[in-house]
Amino acid sequence: MADIKRIGVLTGGGDAPGLNAVIRAVVKTAYNAGVEVIGLEDSFDGLIEPGRSRTLTPRDVTGILRLGGTVLGTTNRGNPFAYPVSTSEGIRDYSERVVEMFHKMGLDALVVIGGDGTLAIAQQFNDRGVPIVGVPKTIDNDIVGTTNCFGFDSAVAFATDAIDRLHTTAEAHRRIIVVEVMGRYAGWIALHAGVAGGADAILIPEIPFDLEAVAARLRDRDRWGARFSIVVVAEGAFPKGGKLSLLQAASDGHVERLGGIGARVCEALATLTGKETRAVVLGHLQRGGAPTSFDRTLATRFGGKAVELILNRQFGVMVASAPPDIVARPLSEVTGKTKTVPPDYDLLHTAKALGVTFGD
Ligand code: F6P
Repeated sequence: MADIKRIGVLTGGGDAPGLNAVIRAVVKTAYNAGVEVIGLEDSFDGLIEPGRSRTLTPRDVTGILRLGGTVLGTTNRGNPFAYPVSTSEGIRDYSERVVEMFHKMGLDALVVIGGDGTLAIAQQFNDRGVPIVGVPKTIDNDIVGTTNCFGFDSAVAFATDAIDRLHTTAEAHRRIIVVEVMGRYAGWIALHAGVAGGADAILIPEIPFDLEAVAARLRDRDRWGARFSIVVVAEGAFPKGGKLSLLQAASDGHVERLGGIGARVCEALATLTGKETRAVVLGHLQRGGAPTSFDRTLATRFGGKAVELILNRQFGVMVASAPPDIVARPLSEVTGKTKTVPPDYDLLHTAKALGVTFGD
């Protein structure tokens, strides 16, 4: 069997703090093992359009460990199997081109760093004979098969800091402040940042809420003298019997955009409690900026493991965290699913025991 001589690396989907730390680890580990790394720009576009790739050496990745974003152009959500070309041509399948380019560039394997959507695309290419190792990335922490994804800790750290700041102003005005955080269809960010920030109510997609129950809890706080409250709402949370709050419905080539639930909860709680309320949406601030030390370390471990798997010719897998180890999981077992907060998660029970309401 021929040696691995040249591998490609790309980043896809939304960005997450730690992408550059993975790229750096892949490049340095591969370089030290005598393998050339080609950085593919703008996700799979780097394998669709010629000239959108470059060799990466340790010199090119020096100093990027602490940087947010990605040094590989953009992390667009484009899917080569349904690629938006132009308004006149519409959607086209560019997957054959990707496979051809992969071989033409003399690549032996590909490291694909991305969320569920990107990893599902990666699996399809792996099935077509492109040897792939995936690296799970998302601030949402919703990828199946891995305890942690890099980016999550940074998002939680930012949201916790924001909640700390909102606490002081909420208290000074005796207000209820509703903080909407990201997370898509999972409540990991809301739950972790809510508990770390000492929120009084945490609303997550896994537990449809009743605002009467939330209001009752907040009124109770008033009675014993805590005349302000912090409510953390996941963007994917919804009321019992109600619907998701959407900023934009799904359309050709685009996923639906969640958002707006914070403002709705804020308005309803003002009516139900008679208190002054304000809503804050943390939005993309949660995805920007430098990764935390935890995410830098996790991303580095993922990048190093990805190269190790390639050198061992173990393909069609995703690196995953299974503390204390970094392991490989078959892509086929992890894609197309969402890891939500399980009902028996200890942090849910701990929070409830502290008096936090989930509106259930
Ligand atoms: O998946 C990461 C994420 O930040 C979600 O939490 C959020 O719903 C979505 O991406 C936002 O997407 P966009 O950057 O396209 O607005």
